[in-house]
Amino acid sequence: MCCFFFFFFFFLTMAVPGVGLLTRLHLCTQRRTRVQRPVLRLLSCPGTVAEDLRRDEQPPGSVETGFEDKIPKKRFSEMQNERREQAKRTVLIHCPEKISEKKFLKYLSQHGPINNHFFYESFGLYAVVEFCQKESVHSLQNETCAPSKGIEAAIPFRSRFFNLKLKNQTSERSCVQMSNQLPPSSKKLFQVLCDAESIDDQLNTLLKEFQLTEENTKLRYLTCSLIEDVAAAYFPDCIVRPFGSSVNTFGKLGCDLDMFLDLNETRNLSTHKTSGNFLMEFQVKNVPSERIATQKILSVLGECLDNFSPGCVGVQKILNARCPLVRFSHQASGFQCDLTTNNRIALTSSELLYIYGALDSRVRALVFTVRCWARAHLLTSSIPGAWITNFSLTMMVIFFLQTRSPPVLPTLDSLQTLADAEDKCIIEGNNCTFVRDLNRIKPSENTETLEILLKEFFEYFGNFAFNKNSINIRQGREQNKPDSSPLYIQNPFETSLNISKNVNQSQLQKFVHLAQESTWILQQEDLDGPDTSGNRSWGLVALLLPSGANRKSVGKKKSKKATSEKIKVLLESIKSNRTENFTDTNGKRNVSTQT
Ligand code: CTP
Ligand code: MG
Repeated sequence: MCCFFFFFFFFLTMAVPGVGLLTRLHLCTQRRTRVQRPVLRLLSCPGTVAEDLRRDEQPPGSVETGFEDKIPKKRFSEMQNERREQAKRTVLIHCPEKISEKKFLKYLSQHGPINNHFFYESFGLYAVVEFCQKESVHSLQNETCAPSKGIEAAIPFRSRFFNLKLKNQTSERSCVQMSNQLPPSSKKLFQVLCDAESIDDQLNTLLKEFQLTEENTKLRYLTCSLIEDVAAAYFPDCIVRPFGSSVNTFGKLGCDLDMFLDLNETRNLSTHKTSGNFLMEFQVKNVPSERIATQKILSVLGECLDNFSPGCVGVQKILNARCPLVRFSHQASGFQCDLTTNNRIALTSSELLYIYGALDSRVRALVFTVRCWARAHLLTSSIPGAWITNFSLTMMVIFFLQTRSPPVLPTLDSLQTLADAEDKCIIEGNNCTFVRDLNRIKPSENTETLEILLKEFFEYFGNFAFNKNSINIRQGREQNKPDSSPLYIQNPFETSLNISKNVNQSQLQKFVHLAQESTWILQQEDLDGPDTSGNRSWGLVALLLPSGANRKSVGKKKSKKATSEKIKVLLESIKSNRTENFTDTNGKRNVSTQT
């Protein structure tokens, strides 16, 4: 039965993007005595953030977490352009199971030099190959043939997604090295967390295990680029841009891929190219509103993806949502994709989060931990509903870090003060101006450890006056709530919107209760001191266990009861949310992607 619970929870939490940490495992056989080591403080020395980021050597006493090289050093727009350009030179190939890497690369090199490549498994073996030049992709496409006719008729579609076949069967064994695209198993995670040396070390380890790898990021940009090829059939100058956790540095392996069709280039072309006394415009069709235009474009693209684009399955057109979208699975990459149009404000939010993530090395570790904690306690879900979202949790962590003394993060208003003329940005009447250059932001003087910050985070939100106050990262201080939503987190750019409007009172209460319980667990850690018994789940592991499992007075029986109780609640919420979320009061399709 216990096994059943473990696998049930494992399935529920791992089959959907996220982490499964919902059963007590006594894996900590080799726990070392905890040594409090100084938190990694890349930014604690005087100077600017960029200087700190550039430093090759770490400050003495810093913890090596292995993710230092992942800290972004470039401006967001620079990074996006580079990745986009790389993706355009890249192809995706479904390979035969038995393949020699050397022969494969030699075969492809006929079309030009290869910059880099990697293999991964996702219901088959796939290779991502980045050529040095774009022309190599055309050369490969020109030499590629349509599949030979079978019983079914093929739709002749030329893309950068290929199928490699062996002409003669080979007895060669495949010996390619696979790149991992999945989050760690619960078992592995528990093991590495138990083996950590301090709570700070645990938070950094969790970040290292869950953050997007270089390969996974490449695959995300490539997927957008493949979708762009489809959209370009209608809008040749369009760009499909990834946003959200895929690019804001807070994405966990397995997170969805948010992308939007940017038609700005197409629109700008018509305004720039004027000469003399003439103004030439394209003949276009007019529709009554922007929203209808968006719905029409997405509807056609949804059809294209469904009918022509190999690997795009389960296409759903969700056109009546506040922000209309097309949702689909990209089978070859395993990504659940949400395609919207002209979502420049959301891209700006991603840029802001990217900057916050880069400003201080503690930010991402804390956000990842809070996200995993929320997932482990079923506070978040991949199914739309009244749950708190990862985006809201990230905003809560940022807000909390702004309230520390001295603050760990600056307010959005102060980032706006640092902006120069180049940073000025108004989107749909909303002021999206803030400094984009990391060099201009002074690092924080706050030196609190991750352990302290985590404990204080739970304490802060366990006692927050949610009934009257709202969270606002523009000003970094509590404000009166403008309406009666249980949880009010102001959208940083569309300031009249609440990003957590979907959250109901019971989910908020659950969050508050768990935050209070987590404060208590961490206080116990302090009282108990270092544990040398070798079999107690400690620190972060204790926080990720089912609610109640940590109380010493609570026996094994009760912990099992808590687990089965959780299954019941989850099943019920899934049931009610299925009906609640897929059809709103007007009988329209409804998703919680936007509030
Ligand atoms: N967004 C927003 N307002 C909301 C919800 C989302 O502005 N109410 C924007 C944010 O920029 C967010 C992005 O849309 O990052 C994508 O939303 P979502 O996929 O829900 O969040 P992610 O940050 O991508 O997190 P996750 O890993 O859960 O997908
Ligand atoms: Mg997302």
